[in-house]
Amino acid sequence: MTRQIDHIGIAVNDLEQALEFWDRQLGIRCAHIEELPERGVRVAMLPVGDTRIELLAPLGDKSEIAAALAKRGPGLHHLCLRSDDVDADLTSLAAAGVRLIDERGRPGAGGCRVGFVHPKGSGGVLLELSQPEPR
Ligand code: CO
Repeated sequence: MTRQIDHIGIAVNDLEQALEFWDRQLGIRCAHIEELPERGVRVAMLPVGDTRIELLAPLGDKSEIAAALAKRGPGLHHLCLRSDDVDADLTSLAAAGVRLIDERGRPGAGGCRVGFVHPKGSGGVLLELSQPEPR
């Protein structure tokens, strides 16, 4: 696993309204917006320093983000660490008895392969591991 913060995920109710603050008021420019219908989410990526802020807005009301917003409201949602090999990392965490959400990697935003560690396995932090798309 690469020890680098890939991005910080923030749940928002309205992507345009959130971009008004992060992009236009703070000046952290949005690099791209992407829809992931299979996950029920619209994602905006805003590079800042060596990492990125990921704004997550619900696409429909059945998504995990919609559930998180209903339960906890908008705000910090997850932390994402860069990984060289998501499947290998998930396998070794599972072997160590860490509770996972994903046993194997799955497609994430920007062509990445991602997997989530359950907050109960990481001291209350929803942790995402992300392997960049191979070039
Ligand atoms: Co993320």
